[in-house]
Amino acid sequence: MNNLIVVMGVSGCGKSTIGNSLSQKMKIPFIDADDFHPKANIEKMSRGEALTDKDRLPWLQALNAELKSRGKSDGAILACSALKEEYRRILSDNITTIQWVFLEGSFDLIKKRIETRSNHFMDATLLQSQFDTLEIPNYGIKVNCEKSPEDITNEIIREMQKSAFGIFGIGVMGKSLALNMLDKGVSVSVYNRNEGVEKEMVENFLKETDNNNAAGFTELKDFVQSLQTPRKILLMVKAGNVVDVVIDNIVPFLEEGDILIDGGNSHYKDTERRVNSLKNKQIHFVGLGVSGGEEGALKGPSLMPGGSEEGYNCVASYLNLIAAKDENGNPCCNYIGPNGAGHFVKMVHNGIEYADMQLLAELYALLSVTKSYEEISGIFSKWNEGELSSYLLEITAKILQEKEGNSNLLDLILDKAGNKGTGSWSSVSALELGVPTTMKTAAVYARYTSSFKETRVKLSKDVRSSEINDEMNIDLLERAYDFARTINLQQGLQLIQSASEEYNWNLNLSEICRIWSSGCIIKSEKIKAFSEILKAGNNLFESKEILESLHENETAMPYVIDYALKTRISIPCFYEAYNYWVAMTTEQSSANMIQAQRDFFGAHKFQRVDAEQDKMFHHNWS
Ligand code: 6PG
Repeated sequence: MNNLIVVMGVSGCGKSTIGNSLSQKMKIPFIDADDFHPKANIEKMSRGEALTDKDRLPWLQALNAELKSRGKSDGAILACSALKEEYRRILSDNITTIQWVFLEGSFDLIKKRIETRSNHFMDATLLQSQFDTLEIPNYGIKVNCEKSPEDITNEIIREMQKSAFGIFGIGVMGKSLALNMLDKGVSVSVYNRNEGVEKEMVENFLKETDNNNAAGFTELKDFVQSLQTPRKILLMVKAGNVVDVVIDNIVPFLEEGDILIDGGNSHYKDTERRVNSLKNKQIHFVGLGVSGGEEGALKGPSLMPGGSEEGYNCVASYLNLIAAKDENGNPCCNYIGPNGAGHFVKMVHNGIEYADMQLLAELYALLSVTKSYEEISGIFSKWNEGELSSYLLEITAKILQEKEGNSNLLDLILDKAGNKGTGSWSSVSALELGVPTTMKTAAVYARYTSSFKETRVKLSKDVRSSEINDEMNIDLLERAYDFARTINLQQGLQLIQSASEEYNWNLNLSEICRIWSSGCIIKSEKIKAFSEILKAGNNLFESKEILESLHENETAMPYVIDYALKTRISIPCFYEAYNYWVAMTTEQSSANMIQAQRDFFGAHKFQRVDAEQDKMFHHNWS
């Protein structure tokens, strides 16, 4: 259990009484925030004057220092009004976890109490201003202060014995997130089935973690009852119908105000449906995109929460605690938008991930014509030192070094790529929304094509090609790679922007790139740069810097494509990057021909360049 507890609420709610009583029962020293006020503040208050935030700052900082030092020894139970979120932020600055206890009561009740107290330096007339200032925390334990001190104390202790957070499903990702939370000092209950391959998972988890803050359950009801209210439950189960089954099973044990978070790669339309159906039951549903794989989940993932904003606010402090931190130390987590927005953004993240991975696979194929794995790895590592640096480039350089006996492990891996669906969903959404995300789709198709291994082997036998072993120009290849990476991100962000407009999500692309700057699979220097550039607006094609780099690096593309044609290497993502850019930068396209054909056989009509755009024309074709 936590050894730093702050009992908070407006003056007169009974903070000191309850703090003292908790202190006696829990054998944790009690401290009163009033004892830490600078003299000037005490004088001001006794004159009946309200303190300003400026007055409070040194006081809150002193309390923060006191809590930090006591956290390392016996702990402390602090009675402190802590009315505003900002005050609580200062109080808890650089402290992993504090157990907040909010004593709530009506204005009339507390007024009556204050009026009967003689030795308190606060004038009862200031109470109204306290209520006006109060920002009720949406976390921590809340107890009604009308009850007797004995009942309140017992209720707080009972609640504190419960876990702050629940995780349903402790497969690879669920387990890693649970360990991440426990590591941050959060008490966690985990639930898992105890059947088949999942037998003894909970038992083993508890054995492995050996942490007093962890509790494990194989009965759903017990799991739910082990959680502090409002209950915060993260579902880490396979995306699809399973999520609906789990929701149906768990909801009967929940109460109004509880929060369910789906941390799987669910389809955003499913998330939207779940947000709305659970809203009717007063349950907050948060669709949480989680990226970073097992290691990210354990050490700090990138988190993309969407759905119920009220629900998000209740869990934000926990998500921020476990999320990766950006270069300024801020959590790579922020509310993305309503309904399925969080999962939509995660889906596009995966689409970008697919194309980034495919580009690296294509580079590996191109470079393999003349270079050893060792040399290719060296080239990638060198690129990774500069602006092209990314997690995927880094791991690709490592993969090329991996040996099994005398062989390169890569040569022992069958060349058939799998997928779990998010990449193709991203392309389907792009088709639905009318956004050309050609690179992502090419990457999905490349995976599909790879799966026809037998056909490929058969057809390869009769290929007539000349042996070409030209050395690749690495500088041009690097520029082409830079070009394609930029187009990939631009296409992905364009898809998010179109969804934002279509669904009225009001998404912030710069903030999304910041969330992707650390912890996730597509984290890179480029994304950090994009986050800055997009502060000026959501359209990358309005950035002089981006346009300049695309025009400049475009000149390397014909060389790389020509090399691929001559060496007969399939590089669909590079092709698509170039094709898209050429089409986007062509003033007069060939679509006039398409319109003419449509009108010829189907009388679909066309607009004319010499007439108003809202007028449609049909021609009697001869
Ligand atoms: C992440 C990954 C992760 C996983 C996807 C894609 O961000 O951590 O995107 O979610 O890699 O499920 O997997 P597939 O390649 O199997 O589709």
